[in-house]
Amino acid sequence: MSLVPENIPALATEFAEKPPQAILELALRSYSRGQIAISFSGAEDVVLIDMATKIDPQVRVFTLDTGRLHTETYEFLERVRNHYGIPVEVYFPQVEAVQRLVAQKGFFSFYHDGHKECCDIRKVEPLKRALRTVNAWVTGQRKDQSPGTRAQVPVIQIDPTFRSESGVLVKFNPLATWSSSQVFEYIRANDVPVNELHRTLVNAGGDYQTLNIPAYISIGCQPCTTVLLPGEHERAARWRWEESTKKECGLHAGNIAQP
Ligand code: ADX
Ligand code: SF4
Repeated sequence: MSLVPENIPALATEFAEKPPQAILELALRSYSRGQIAISFSGAEDVVLIDMATKIDPQVRVFTLDTGRLHTETYEFLERVRNHYGIPVEVYFPQVEAVQRLVAQKGFFSFYHDGHKECCDIRKVEPLKRALRTVNAWVTGQRKDQSPGTRAQVPVIQIDPTFRSESGVLVKFNPLATWSSSQVFEYIRANDVPVNELHRTLVNAGGDYQTLNIPAYISIGCQPCTTVLLPGEHERAARWRWEESTKKECGLHAGNIAQP
């Protein structure tokens, strides 16, 4: 079955239980090099890069530098670039928009009036620019990352939020059915680079549900990421001051059902 928009629901069903490598193979074979890119920031994404470079060593990868990432995350991005010998395209926010926000509301407005405005400027607008250059993108979203917003994420979908320059944008989520421990098991078995903030988790075997000490699991921007406490769900560590059903930053806003 070819990857035309009308076939996507059927392909999503056909590939729902297939291994991520099979989904990546379909993705990378369906688009010419440069027309598809992996959106990279975390542990899931480097697993996808590891799998994808085994199919196409020159796979396109981009990241969104919000300007608020942890030092360890910048070091991790650099290690991944060197380890795989691939360029990582970096998209930055628009200078004027950041200057306006900070001048009007300071550096921590998200603690007072929610993360949407800052995420829109620092992540969503740069993502839109990145996506205008492709026809398909690959993300590391997993269903069990966020029962409140990601439980229905399919392995292939027409992007519910963004469009490519030429119209339909296809979104691949090859790790949709994987758990966090499967991700870290793959990292360990394949010697994949990790963010040093994940060291506690990696040293403890990679399954956060069995951890009895605080540790970083889900990592985003530094001011909006906290360590996870024993017994918590991984999403609790992000935007800790907000309600769980609102914990999407706009990159995956289509996961939240509109009233
Ligand atoms: S977020 O929307 O809440 O920040 P999350 O951290 O769960 O997203 O990551 C889900 C997926 O979104 C990642 O696997 C990655 O594909 C993409 N993503 C998130 N943040 C970035 C970023 N800064 N740069 C590029 N891709 C990102
Ligand atoms: Fe801003 Fe926090 Fe969103 Fe990063 S996660 S863009 S710092 S609100």
